[in-house]
Amino acid sequence: MTRATESVQFVPAGGSRQERKERRRRSAAGASQPWEGALHALGERAASAFDRNELGDWGSREPNSLRGPHRLRPAPHRASTMTFAAAYPFITESGLGHEGTYIGTDVFGAGAFAYDPWILYDKGIISGPSIVVIGTVGTGKSMCGKSLVARSITLGRKAAVASDPKGEWVAVANAVGGKVISVGPGRSARVNPLDAGPRSSALSEAQWQAVVRQRRRYLLVALVSLMRQGMPLSPVEHTALDMALMETVAENSNPTLPMVLDHLLNPSRETVGLVGKDGGQAVSHSLRRTVSGDLEGMFDAPSTVSFDAEAPMMVMDTSALIGASEQALSLAAACGATWLEAAVTNPDGGKRLVVYDEGWRMLADPYMLAKMSEQWRLARTYGIANLLIMHKVADLNEIGDSTSGHRQKALGLLTEADTRIIYRQKHDAMRLTKEALGLTEAECEHVENLPKGVGLWKVGNRSFIVANRVTTDELAVFGTDDRMI
Ligand SMILES: Nc1ncnc2c1ncn2[C@@H]1O[C@H](COP(=O)(O)OP(=O)(O)OP(=O)(O)O)[C@@H](O)[C@H]1O
Ligand SMILES: [Mg+2]
Repeated sequence: MTRATESVQFVPAGGSRQERKERRRRSAAGASQPWEGALHALGERAASAFDRNELGDWGSREPNSLRGPHRLRPAPHRASTMTFAAAYPFITESGLGHEGTYIGTDVFGAGAFAYDPWILYDKGIISGPSIVVIGTVGTGKSMCGKSLVARSITLGRKAAVASDPKGEWVAVANAVGGKVISVGPGRSARVNPLDAGPRSSALSEAQWQAVVRQRRRYLLVALVSLMRQGMPLSPVEHTALDMALMETVAENSNPTLPMVLDHLLNPSRETVGLVGKDGGQAVSHSLRRTVSGDLEGMFDAPSTVSFDAEAPMMVMDTSALIGASEQALSLAAACGATWLEAAVTNPDGGKRLVVYDEGWRMLADPYMLAKMSEQWRLARTYGIANLLIMHKVADLNEIGDSTSGHRQKALGLLTEADTRIIYRQKHDAMRLTKEALGLTEAECEHVENLPKGVGLWKVGNRSFIVANRVTTDELAVFGTDDRMI
């Protein structure tokens, strides 16, 4: 602190190095400085000029005339951001400190910018580890996520990519020694979304069974609801689905979707007693899409791959589905994310970033949204930090109507994220972004003009404009430009 204060002492520029050194020495000793004499002489000259009715360099002696030398050029001051933050409180940021993953340069402070959700949570700067990245097409959102993930892995964190519809995280996983699970037409991997996943040591056997049952029930309801474009299930259908799941689990320790479907189509006597013979018919037709048609052979058999908890990174690559219908993509996203979630929501699994690139698809269904909200709420318990990447808040307008609780809930997910990274947004998208992410007018102005690779980071109640610095090697692996060729 003392050194920093000394370094901002004003010493006029000019003269040789030897002269400047001498001036600094005399200044430190409290002696009057040579330039003071020069200034005095200047004042004398101006006074006599005034007497002669000439204004000279000092201007008019009239009141309010801002009298002073016209060419005052103070030498630039240089000091640490810590000193400036103390000298200009509320104007200058002192930074978040050096701990965490290097992201790039704090544009205003000119220092390095590092970030780690767990460290900042421990320091009390943020109250939750969830991160939202938002920005228009091609502004560098994924690049920011990829550099955060890849560099965090070198510091001992892990990552899982739950949604990668473009398959662009595959190269990142390969670069850091991670594993990729590719599902889709022509791919050999089968993923059973009803897998129980590893048991958390924090839960008793009974608690764990309840968690698994709940997760499976949720997925089935979400799949049916996705097929019906969000139309909810009737109470009878809920019961029919529940009964089919219970009967399947009673018969098989490793239940699959076709088994549940089979129980829906051929209900037991007990189920018929509860919901009638046709109670589960409509549900079974909705669920059928996951085991036949465009998703056939992907999520309808016991898993042929397993989640490697030791691998630094796991990617669920669904890029082979590119060109499939929106519904098929949403169903695949729901199945893939549920399977991965079962594996990562384990407090013994270490600290892990869970990425949802193009994540709005996950928010479009009320059940998936509820699932995701729950995961965000429980993130601290499981040691995970969710990273949701999306284009604009207006994407959420596709969800329900403006008064629907669903859209409000999706917006709440963004608002609740304590780290919001905003890349360039178009002017017409700014109003919603401003409201949802709590930006100031000045921040909005910056956001509209941000160049590629530069984002506004709102971390807790602090703000930074950060240029994400990437090396040539990282650019080669993380870049997506070749898709335009
Ligand atoms: N920090 C950066 N430094 C240098 N180049 C960058 C940076 N960020 C992005 N780019 C360039 O911009 C391209 C697009 O970046 P990226 O894929 O991250 O955009 P995006 O916002 O995720 O786009 P989309 O909306 O299509 O997913 C990259 O391939 C890279 O060439
Ligand atoms: Mg992207």
